[in-house]
Amino acid sequence: MFAIAYYVVSMIRCTTVKKETAPNQVKRREMTDFTNYNVDFKTPEDTKVEMCKIIQSTHLNKYGHLSSGQLLKWVDISACLAAEKLAGRPCVTLSVDDLYFEDKVHVGEIISLVSGVNRAFNTSMEVGVEVKKENDDGTRKLICCAFLTFVAINGAGKKVKLPPFQFKSSSEKACFTLAEERRRVRIAHSKTMKVLLDSYEDSNHPCASDIRRKVVKGLCTRVESVELVLPQHANHHGNTFGGQIMEWMEGISSISAVRFAKGAIALRSVDMIHFRGPSQVGDRIVLRALVNHATRNSIEVGVRVEAYNCENGNMGEIRHINSAFFIFESTLTLPLLDPTGTEDGTRRHREAIARAKIRLDRRYILSSQRVEKLSVKLNRSNVMYLRLNNLSCLSDLASKSDWKNVSNDENLTLSTREQNGVLFFKVSKKLSSSRVTDFHAFNILSNPLVRKNWDPLMISCEKLSKDIGEDDCVFRTMMRSGMNDDDDKKNEFILLYSHRKPTRKGDSYIIAMRSVVSEDDHNKDGDNYNRMEVACAGFIIHQDPGQNTEISYYNETNPKMVRYVTSDVAGFSKLYSVVYSKMEKYLIDSI
Ligand code: COA
Ligand code: ADP
Repeated sequence: MFAIAYYVVSMIRCTTVKKETAPNQVKRREMTDFTNYNVDFKTPEDTKVEMCKIIQSTHLNKYGHLSSGQLLKWVDISACLAAEKLAGRPCVTLSVDDLYFEDKVHVGEIISLVSGVNRAFNTSMEVGVEVKKENDDGTRKLICCAFLTFVAINGAGKKVKLPPFQFKSSSEKACFTLAEERRRVRIAHSKTMKVLLDSYEDSNHPCASDIRRKVVKGLCTRVESVELVLPQHANHHGNTFGGQIMEWMEGISSISAVRFAKGAIALRSVDMIHFRGPSQVGDRIVLRALVNHATRNSIEVGVRVEAYNCENGNMGEIRHINSAFFIFESTLTLPLLDPTGTEDGTRRHREAIARAKIRLDRRYILSSQRVEKLSVKLNRSNVMYLRLNNLSCLSDLASKSDWKNVSNDENLTLSTREQNGVLFFKVSKKLSSSRVTDFHAFNILSNPLVRKNWDPLMISCEKLSKDIGEDDCVFRTMMRSGMNDDDDKKNEFILLYSHRKPTRKGDSYIIAMRSVVSEDDHNKDGDNYNRMEVACAGFIIHQDPGQNTEISYYNETNPKMVRYVTSDVAGFSKLYSVVYSKMEKYLIDSI
């Protein structure tokens, strides 16, 4: 629970970072060139919004806790205010990423919601929201973190281009970079689901002890309800707030879950929600819910939302607004679900199992900043999250401000930092030749197959998997720990390389690496190698206008490597200086 909290907090912490300079005023609204440095722009700090709420009895559910529907509504309002601070015009909720509720909130407690834009794309932007409750002793506890996508719209409900937006601090930069990666995950979400379903095999047979459990027909959990959209449910253009729809969905899904569980339940998480189309004041919103899947202690309820208008005496077209999936937990053993009672029950049951797998993959991988077993088996359903984890670990490491500069040598700086007992190191080299551009360095360094040409520590490298996206690939590399360890067993790494070009002028190139277990990993010579694992490593390549390219390599030490790092730190050896000089020479020679 806390691992994911740590991860997500680090992801959205740019919303709470103190501003370095006074807010910029946006003078030109209709900007077309975001790469132009001569224009004013807004920063994450300019979009920051804080909301504080004291929990009253009207906010509670029947168990005496803050209703999750109410919380979802506040999250959406708070995020919308941040989005509109950037856009300077109305914004609508397009999507909400998976949400986890980490703790309950009780009457009289105070919660704070801090929101801010992490990144603006063209017409859409990512907003991060952090919800914490304040304890009596002044400490704060995380309740949930959310990432929402908003689109700026005009009076006719059409999307419009956003004004320029730029990060200032290094932590804002990390959020900015990762927002692009999370966007990829969102856009690929339905495809990921389809891929998983295609490869799904039903192995979910009840076990012997299940025979004693009561069976509930899926159809018995069906709920239908209608709501009329009133002015208080909408913004001043008459568009229904996404948070209002979410509150209604949470309400109906909990009725369905209670019908199934016949006991106390609590909302644990919500799958990614996508608002397919708008609804307005006067619309009728029809919500239908049903339990799709249940395990011993958890229930997935699906909700379908449709809207129609019956102005002028005619029932207008029925529009599918969205579909969402809510996961409830119970401390009691739940009944068995018989999904076959509804027409689509078996299919939905099957899809719910696939969603449960995606949820587990996502939560496990995204929270595994550092876990005992680092390598995760890479497959088609978790590749999106592994890529995101890969890039987020490196961006997060690079954005830390507590790096200690431990040695300087001919444009090469060695720095270290410690976190939770792990020593990380960074080697930064400013290239002496201005002929090596950041783009050229990126092309060379992102291809580990040519690394042997410049890195004396590399013994061999082979590509293991087919490309799993344009910018990601798995390689097996054999490395020496140091220059003179020929007697040692060699170190074998199976690494996912994720490389990204900057989307805007002035940003950095990133090449992130982390250990994975590949489906194509058939090493029969295991006895002659140490299988090594690395949670976070990679290059960040940057070039300021008129300046030489700077290459920074980040890595965490492992027991084999640490002696070489500490020797360099102490000045006994110059391993990194040698390696990086060879790299520079190769970069120049290969122009
Ligand atoms: N995740 C993240 N971003 C997504 C996305 C997804 N799954 N699908 C689309 N987008 C992005 C697009 O990339 C585009 O962003 P960009 O311009 O920054 O590149 C933006 O969202 C618009 O997408 P597009 O498909 O071109 O939009 P559209 O013109 O068809 O409609 C809306 C966009 C927002 C006007 C329309 O979807 C809508 O009205 N949705 C309902 C919003 C609403 O009313 N919400 C409140 C609850 S009812
Ligand atoms: P799908 O049926 O493919 O799951 P939908 O978007 O139609 O996708 O529905 C989403 C979820 O809403 C379903 O999984 C189901 O749980 C619930 N649902 C859909 N239709 C109904 C209905 N007629 N009555 C009750 N619940 C429904």
